[in-house]
Amino acid sequence: MAGRAEGRCVLVCVTGCIAAYKACELVRLLQKQGARVKVLMTEHATQFVGPLTFRALTHEPVAVGLFDDPSDPIHHVSLAQEADCVVVAPATANVIAKMAHGIADDLMSTTLLATTSPIVVAPAMNVHMWQAAATQENVATLRERGVRIVGPGTGYLACGDVAEGRLTDLDAIAEAVYDALATTSELAGERVVVTAGGTHEPIDPVRYVGNRSSGKMGVALAEAARAMGAQVTLVMGPATVPAPAGVTVAPVETAAQMLDATRAAFTDATMLVCAAAVADYTPSHPADHKLKKGIEELDSIALTRTTDILAELSAAKGSRTVIGFAAETGNPVGYAQDKLARKGCDAIVANDVSRTESGFGSNTNQAWWVTPERVEELPLMAKTDLAREILVRAHRLNK
Ligand code: PMT
Repeated sequence: MAGRAEGRCVLVCVTGCIAAYKACELVRLLQKQGARVKVLMTEHATQFVGPLTFRALTHEPVAVGLFDDPSDPIHHVSLAQEADCVVVAPATANVIAKMAHGIADDLMSTTLLATTSPIVVAPAMNVHMWQAAATQENVATLRERGVRIVGPGTGYLACGDVAEGRLTDLDAIAEAVYDALATTSELAGERVVVTAGGTHEPIDPVRYVGNRSSGKMGVALAEAARAMGAQVTLVMGPATVPAPAGVTVAPVETAAQMLDATRAAFTDATMLVCAAAVADYTPSHPADHKLKKGIEELDSIALTRTTDILAELSAAKGSRTVIGFAAETGNPVGYAQDKLARKGCDAIVANDVSRTESGFGSNTNQAWWVTPERVEELPLMAKTDLAREILVRAHRLNK
């Protein structure tokens, strides 16, 4: 499977801070995901780590001074343009202030001003510098402009305090870079609707018929679609995980509410992904008062079929892309092919929900991508990774 930064160029900007040495490990992490990494250091950063270290790690010249590279008269512009993503880690209060105020007085600040690529900033500094009103205002300004701020973390600081101000976890910084890289690509211009979670069908005001969906798969899809540049509406039934930031959420409880919300969102959409576990049946006569336990046996609860959201919207999809899921136990591919034909969507993601590491509640999933033309078995992977794999394939379908 391709790395998450495969073929992309990431510019790592290292500023003068004791955490500068951690940038070496960040470079390695990004490289492991296939990124070509270039490093830009401030003069102060070179006091903490030698440029030679980064040069050895990246096999690329390390940029420091504005006029260091005589072969490139506008070095800051070429660095800025070449990078698919710029990450400042560690970022001092000084570089954050320069970015917020558009100050361009060295190679790093001019490059940061010149780039049009997404920027990730990982602050690291003394707790009082971090909490200073000036820094907080500068960080808020950068956030408003779309700069991704990760951290800082809390822990032991070089000054001896145990407080907020540490460079955050390197995996979190790398994750923000992958997210930023994905944003720039595949789904820009798409309006994606995702259904997630389960539904609760009321028996009476306190009891319901439900299922074991945690919402993780649908939330991962919504988050990945947003990160890939789509506008996302998440129609979300009861779930154990929160909705991600940056998406429009339509909270629902019952299958009927999910139908209404999905219909409404689909009007303006280019893609629909139905990952929700929607009840197939709902109690026909929900009581408007709590049922008493007086009777020994309750023989039956009359149930009525719910509307199949996926089938209904597939029938009206026109040129839009509609993807369904199939939660199966035994012969997932065969059942998925049958569902694909009956429901009329473009593809079905079949998952075997009898496996503990797949399906309901798990953080991982193993699925088959089933279209009328082919069946592709995908390996077991994190739901967050599977979400991307699904969206990439869905996007290519009607092209
Ligand atoms: O939420 P998690 O804990 O992360 O679990 C993920 C999941 C197992 C719920 C997910 O991967 C999954 O398989 N979702 C579909 C569950 C399901 O209801 O499958 P189904 O085979 O019963 O339905 C087939 C398709 O029709 C699904 O896309 C479903 O959303 C859709 N459907 C079903 C009934 C209905 N009334 N309306 C629908 O749109």
